[in-house]
Amino acid sequence: MRSGAHFDVAVVGAGAAGMMAAAVAGQRGLRVVLIDHATRLAEKIRISGGGRCNFTNLGASPAQFVSRNPDFCRSALRGYGPADFLDLLRTHGVAWHEKHRGQLFCDDSSESIIEVLRRECAVGQVAWRMPCAVQSVAREADGFVLQTDGGAIRAAQLVLATGGTAIPQLGATDFSLRVARRFGLKIVEPRPALVPLTFDAAQWQPYAALSGVALEVRLSHESAPADGAAGRPARTGGKRRQVGRTEFLEDLLFTHRGLSGPGILQISSFWRPGDPLHIDLAPGQNLAEALLEAKSGSRQTLLTALSALWPRRLAEAWLATEFPAGAPHSSPGAAPAVPAGRMVAGDSAAHRAARASDSARAPQSVPTSPRLADLPDRQLRALAERIQGWTVWPTGTAGYKKAEVMSGGVDTDELDQRSLQAHRCPGLHVVGEAVDVTGWLGGYNFQWAWASGVACGRSLKAGSRP
Ligand code: FDA
Repeated sequence: MRSGAHFDVAVVGAGAAGMMAAAVAGQRGLRVVLIDHATRLAEKIRISGGGRCNFTNLGASPAQFVSRNPDFCRSALRGYGPADFLDLLRTHGVAWHEKHRGQLFCDDSSESIIEVLRRECAVGQVAWRMPCAVQSVAREADGFVLQTDGGAIRAAQLVLATGGTAIPQLGATDFSLRVARRFGLKIVEPRPALVPLTFDAAQWQPYAALSGVALEVRLSHESAPADGAAGRPARTGGKRRQVGRTEFLEDLLFTHRGLSGPGILQISSFWRPGDPLHIDLAPGQNLAEALLEAKSGSRQTLLTALSALWPRRLAEAWLATEFPAGAPHSSPGAAPAVPAGRMVAGDSAAHRAARASDSARAPQSVPTSPRLADLPDRQLRALAERIQGWTVWPTGTAGYKKAEVMSGGVDTDELDQRSLQAHRCPGLHVVGEAVDVTGWLGGYNFQWAWASGVACGRSLKAGSRP
C-alpha cells in the first residue's frame, strides 16, 4: 500500500491558469488538488491592471501572441475566447468596462476575478494545499508523486501552472521550467518581456531630466531573420518562427533609466540586445510639410512649433541637442549643430564613436529657439526626418523585477495544442505563462491563461481509483 493522498490531477500553481484548469477538471468530476506555495492567493491577478485586472481583450487572436509557433494558441483561444470569460463573469455578477482598444477591466477590483475562480474551484470540489511547497516530483508507473510540505501527493496527471519568473518579489519561480526540463522537455530561453528598456547610465544622463514626459509615438522593430522574434510568421528548416517588422502606435514614457510606457513594453517583447528601435515622435504627420507651411509668413519660433506637437520639456530638450548654446542657429546649407536625432548605446566601435559624438551634443540648456523663417527649408526637412526617424539602441531591460511577464518557456513543439499535454511525457501538462506563448500588453496574457487552463481542464482524464 503506497502512502499519500491520491488524486486524478495535481495542479501546481493556483494562479490564473491553474485555478481555471482545476475548476474545469473538478467540475467534470475529477478529483483535483491545487497546490501553491504562496500565503496569499493569486497575487498577480490582484495587482494586475492597477488593481482592476485587465482580464481579457475583445480582439484576442493568435496575432497578438509572441511564440516560436504563433499558431499554437489558436486551438485554445477558439475553444475559450473573451466572450466565454464574459459569460463566466456574468454568471457571478461581476461588472466590467472597456477602457482602451478592447481592453476589459473590472468595475470594482481584481479581487472579484479571484473570487470567481475560487468559487468555480469550490463547485468542482477542488482540494487545496496552500501554502505548500513542492520539494520533488517523480514519475511512477501510473502517474506522479509529489513530495510536499504536507506529505506525499500522488496523482495520475500533473499540471504545471506556476507561471513565469516576472516579479520574483511576489514569489514567482521557474518551477514549471525546471520540472519540464527534468522530464526532457525543451525550453525556449526565458526573457523578461513587457518591460522598460534601459540605456547606459552615462549616455542616458542628459535625458534623465525628461523623466515623466509622455507622448504618443510609433515604435518599430525589425526582427533579425535568425532570432525568431516577431511579426510575420515564416517557416525555416521545418520550424515556424516569426520575422519581420513590428510596429506599435502607443504612448512612450521617458524615465530616469531609459524608456517605458505601453509602447516600449509592447516592443520589448520583440527587442533583443544589440537591436535598434525606430521611433517616430510625430506619428501620422508629414512634419516636414507642416514645418514648411508654418514657416511661410510666420514669426513663429521652432520651439513654439514643436511645443504644439510635444510636451514643452521635450521640445526644449530636443532643440538643445539641435542648437547647443553658443552654436549659430542657422547657416544656410550647413549641417545642423546636432546632426542626427539619434541616441546611441551599444558595444560596437561604430556605436562607441557615435556615443562619443552624442555626448558632445546632449541637451544642456534651454536654447534661444530660432524663428522658423530664419531656417532654410533643407534644415527643416532634415530636422523633421530626425524627429520622425529617431533611432535608439537600448543596452538592456529593467529585468524581471519590473517585467509584467516572462517570454519564452516550455517549447510549444513539446505540447499538444488541444490538451497542453507533453508529447514525450503522457500525463504531464503545462499551462499559462510557463508555455512559450506571450501576449501583448492589453489583457492577452490573462486570456491565454484562461484559454490554456480550460483546454487542459477539459482534456484531463479520471485516473484509476486506488
Ligand atoms: P500566475 O503567475 O498567475 O500564477 C502562478 C502561481 O504559481 C502563483 O500563484 C504562484 O504563487 C505559484 N507558484 C510559483 N512558483 C511556485 C512553486 N515553486 N510552488 C508552488 N506554487 C508556485 N496580464 C493581463 O492579461 N492583464 C493585466 O492587466 C496584467 N497585469 C499585470 C500586472 C503585473 C504587475 C504583472 C506582474 C503581470 C500582469 N499581467 C497581466 C500578466 C499576468 O499576470 C500573467 O500573465 C498571468 O497571471 C499568468 O497566469 P499563470 O496562471 O500562468 O501564472
